[in-house]
Amino acid sequence: MSKRIDVKDLNVYYGNFRAVEGVNISIEPKSVTAFIGPSGCGKSTFLRTLNRMHEVIPGARVEGEVLLDGDDLYAPGVDPVAVRSHIGMVFQRPNPFPTMSIRDNVLAGVKLNGRRMSKSDADALVEQSLRGANLWNEVKDRLNKPGSGLSGGQQQRLCIARAIAVKPDVILMDEPCSALDPISTLAIEDLIEELKENYTVVIVTHNMQQAARVSDKTAFFNIAGTGKPGKLIEYADTTTIFNNPTEKSTEDYVSGRFG
Ligand SMILES: Nc1ncnc2c1ncn2[C@@H]1O[C@H](COP(=O)(O)OP(=O)(O)OP(=O)(O)O)[C@@H](O)[C@H]1O
Ligand SMILES: [Mg+2]
Repeated sequence: MSKRIDVKDLNVYYGNFRAVEGVNISIEPKSVTAFIGPSGCGKSTFLRTLNRMHEVIPGARVEGEVLLDGDDLYAPGVDPVAVRSHIGMVFQRPNPFPTMSIRDNVLAGVKLNGRRMSKSDADALVEQSLRGANLWNEVKDRLNKPGSGLSGGQQQRLCIARAIAVKPDVILMDEPCSALDPISTLAIEDLIEELKENYTVVIVTHNMQQAARVSDKTAFFNIAGTGKPGKLIEYADTTTIFNNPTEKSTEDYVSGRFG
């Protein structure tokens, strides 16, 4: 079930270093939101605060609120592991478990959450998740072969299948296509388009065409200089960000006149 995210006055730290400052943003359900901005402006850092992955780094912490349909993920007593089962993540490099079969890769997240199920339920979930990731037809005859035997683009779709198998509300993707060829990239973009019917999708991308193609809303982050915190500069409909932004720095960035 797709849910909305409201971020209020978020500051993100690595030890004493404030990497991201003062973010306020509302991310709509059943939509794709793109995060863009120059390297080091805190896109990945901010993304990881949305499912409490940031705090696994020693010394890392946040101030502020992240609400999932109104519930603060950082409220006392909230279990970060449960948060991550509602808000899944797909990384830059496809990272299937190499020695695990395709089938077990799809089920890995579900098993991590301690859910037990019958073989027939597991089979059904594997098929549903692989179909959802547009990978079923390519792998249905080799479900017991290792995940590492797939192409890079197939591995990334396997990771998406693993993420959706736990039936999350939100899927976060950090440059999911940066290690892929153009054909696999288009396959993932098509898939993102389908995923938004059921999920809230957030994608970090350096590819302006990709942001323009797949996202409904775009958030532009920027950084004033080395050692300064990244900030959310402008957030609007993707067409506005690309065609008629308010801020000059947004315009410079999306038109490639940057740095
Ligand atoms: N584990 C870490 N420990 C300390 N500082 C970090 C850590 N990870 C990132 N940073 C710092 O936080 C800032 C934001 O980094 P982040 O990786 O979020 O940027 P980004 O916008 O995702 O960049 P890119 O586009 O290159 O992926 C940078 O100054 C970076 O050096
Ligand atoms: Mg990054």
